[in-house]
Amino acid sequence: MKLILLLLTFFLSSLVYAQENAQKQNSAGQQEQHKHENGKGGAGHEHEHNGKGHGGHGHDHEGGHGHGHKLNETQLKQFFEPLPESIIDEQKNAALIKLGKKLYLDPRLSVNDKISCNSCHSLSNYGVDSEPTSPGHEGKRGGRNSPTTFNAALHIAQFWDGRAGTVEEQALGPILNPVEMGMPSEDAVVKKLKAIDEYKTLFAEAFSDQKDPLTYKNIGVAIGAFERTLLTPSRFDDFLKGDKNALNESEKRGLQKFVNMGCVNCHNGVAIGGNSFRKIGLVVPYETSDMGRFEVTGIESDKKAFKVPSLRNIAHTGPYFHDGSVETLDEAIRLMAKHQLGNDHVGHGMIRDIKAFLGSLTAKEAK
Ligand code: HEC
Ligand code: HEC
Repeated sequence: MKLILLLLTFFLSSLVYAQENAQKQNSAGQQEQHKHENGKGGAGHEHEHNGKGHGGHGHDHEGGHGHGHKLNETQLKQFFEPLPESIIDEQKNAALIKLGKKLYLDPRLSVNDKISCNSCHSLSNYGVDSEPTSPGHEGKRGGRNSPTTFNAALHIAQFWDGRAGTVEEQALGPILNPVEMGMPSEDAVVKKLKAIDEYKTLFAEAFSDQKDPLTYKNIGVAIGAFERTLLTPSRFDDFLKGDKNALNESEKRGLQKFVNMGCVNCHNGVAIGGNSFRKIGLVVPYETSDMGRFEVTGIESDKKAFKVPSLRNIAHTGPYFHDGSVETLDEAIRLMAKHQLGNDHVGHGMIRDIKAFLGSLTAKEAK
């Protein structure tokens, strides 16, 4: 089991590595397009000021340019990859996944029996709680926004700062975190679960080869296995697999802009993000007291660097950014263009199209 996970992780990270390399090789050409687009963005902006309400001018205009920016299949494949069917053998691991799901939903994993993983990462709400920061067992809040657990297993690492390697490792953090589930110790968690007959059975079934299956570590293994099933195929995946009608015109324009503007330099790969750490405020400084990745590595250049979030289901996982300070997707797109790309002139039409594209990353059926 462990070996399979290890191999899987290795496989995924080499994919990511290949992706990033393809990215680098491409970045020269990318930069060119990007400058070009900046200029156009400026023009589009003025247009749109004259005619509020029909912000369509900017992009209609661009569409007519015919500068050969139309994405072809090869480019698309360089940047993006459709979701795999699955990343865990769900049949073979049925008992483990069933246990993991039960643990994920069980508030008894918290000190006052009130908070479960699902409280902050609701399975019926795209894996989030829709709060800027999350109230834990005492109503106390941490400083960071709850990211979605959907597709998280695909990420290069877990948490905004990547301090946990895998979903299996990550799952053990919140149970003991004083502002989250607040359990006093690993032993206390194990003791509590051992007193519940149903768990004794479920752990024995899930770890049938082990003598003493109910361990703290195995709680993480089970929850992680369940999280590996939380993949959410979208219309964009259909598009990547060749169904050209899977996106409408506005979504296609948005995709084009997402690539041409340079969003794709960071948000790429199978999760459209989740595969690198980048500084917030790369071009125009961004105000935040959170040092992000620096707190994990101590490396100067990691100050204010965060894991680039996956944009899958992004239309439904606000509020946005590591501190949940950005309320709307429009605002998140505008801030990204400004702070990450130095483009302070994105008009309404541009934002509308990019937002439309991002909407195509929503799960076809909510899990
Ligand atoms: C009180 C709210 C709360 C509870 C309860 C909670 N989480 Fe989280 N979760 C968060 C916050 C906040 C973060 C981001 C923290 C950070 O990055 O420093 C997070 C991060 C994560 C991530 C990382 C996702 C990513 O994109 O990096 C995963 C996976 C996750 N939690 C799963 C779980 C699981 C499994 C449980 C139950 C064992 C759980 N969480 C319990 C609030 C919560
Ligand atoms: C240089 C890398 C980089 C570029 C370029 C970039 N982003 Fe981001 N993006 C990030 C990082 C890092 C974050 C997390 C920032 C934070 O939370 O402080 C982020 C966050 C976001 C979020 C919020 C995600 C969430 O879950 O809160 C959205 C939406 C987004 N980016 C969209 C875009 C769009 C659209 C573009 C192009 C206009 C873009 N990004 C360009 C790195 C980048």
